[in-house]
Amino acid sequence: DVIDIRTLGSHGYFTYDPGFLATGSCESSITYIDGGKGVLQHRGYPIDSLAKQADYLEVCYILLNGDAPTQSEYEEFKSIITTHTMVHEKLVHFFHGFLPDAHPMAMLCGVVGAMSSFYHSDLDITDPAQRKRSAHRLIAKMPTIAAMAYKYSVGQPFVYPRNELSYAENFLHMMFSVPAEEYIVSPTVANAMDRIFTLHADHEQNASTSTVRLAGSSGANPYACIAAGVASLWGPAHGGANEACLTMLEQIGSLENVAEYVAKAKDKNDPFRLMGFGHRVYKNFDPRATVMRETCHEVLNELGISDPLLDVAMALEKVALEDPYFIEKKLYPNVDFYSGIILKAIGIPSSMFTVIFAMSRTVGWIAHWDEMLSQPGQKIGRPRQKYTGEINREFVPLNKR
Ligand code: ACO
Repeated sequence: DVIDIRTLGSHGYFTYDPGFLATGSCESSITYIDGGKGVLQHRGYPIDSLAKQADYLEVCYILLNGDAPTQSEYEEFKSIITTHTMVHEKLVHFFHGFLPDAHPMAMLCGVVGAMSSFYHSDLDITDPAQRKRSAHRLIAKMPTIAAMAYKYSVGQPFVYPRNELSYAENFLHMMFSVPAEEYIVSPTVANAMDRIFTLHADHEQNASTSTVRLAGSSGANPYACIAAGVASLWGPAHGGANEACLTMLEQIGSLENVAEYVAKAKDKNDPFRLMGFGHRVYKNFDPRATVMRETCHEVLNELGISDPLLDVAMALEKVALEDPYFIEKKLYPNVDFYSGIILKAIGIPSSMFTVIFAMSRTVGWIAHWDEMLSQPGQKIGRPRQKYTGEINREFVPLNKR
């Protein structure tokens, strides 16, 4: 049920809702979630159909434009995206200002923000066509920037995009090719990568998307807004959970330690939480986790990898799902629980996990930004507060204190 609080606001009331547990901030027709039933749909299309039957660029088109593309619309969209995959050479220089051990998320945040200075001077955000062009640029350039952040962190030369490859193949090429040897992208790996992109593409008003909307509500340029989204995603309670989850699985290490970690997660005096478990909106299985688990088994089977961490993950999931604490609090595995194992199998280091999440989510962020700016009567986001400090104090000048 939705109560439209604007009517109360005119009488001088406002709600107090830290963490926005019960506050809707906007109207949106992009993504539908029924957390109680474990349903996720983009523009009305169920996530498992999209993950299994569409590729990521189709999903991008759907999120941005509202309907599934025809073959010719898809080809045109793909060609627009591939036209924009290169980044300005001057933008490449930004990487050299970072310390080699900088976290790739720090580089992503800085370099995406710096795009403002390359593409903003003539940008009219009231023009829908110009907003779309920013969206296309961001979707196209994020993999290039993300792969450059990785290459810089391992001290290898940057690899430029190859536009005849698919979006996922091109990203893997830019990550793993070296001048002496072109990386051969296996279809299984490219397919898994594409699915990971799709499963992270949008998730309505989460912390990072709300951050992008709030930044954009002031009229800020889209590149600065997306940099704000990257920053918000970085934390371990949000996009950083995939990296934290793999670290946790490594710490647990083997099956005999699973019970001990489940006990730690239930202990109120221990701050430890099971990473990859729980969600603000899903009080049932995260439908993305179901597809991710399937993909994880497929990838490991097809690559012939036997990873003991997968056994730990499955045991953890089983113990947690049978435990009254997790049942009562409706804590189920979320999208991040299995993605780390897949990414590790592909050869991607855990420091890149959240970067890949940010790349995938860029389309969701920019679709929400565009939707917000296309709505009439859009207002700057400006929450109120409950003031708890002192009032009316007498100020004593410094020389008398
Ligand atoms: N392990 C153990 N206990 C947990 C966990 C967990 N992973 N998650 C929640 N709980 C418990 C809390 O301690 C709390 O217990 P209490 O009511 O006795 O105090 C209760 O469940 C509710 O938790 P909240 O933190 O109030 O729920 P909220 O909706 O604010 O948080 C969140 C959701 C941040 C995702 C939380 O479940 C969490 O920290 N999970 C681990 C991190 C994670 O996987 N994040 C990824 C989210 S998905 C994404 O961003 C893509």
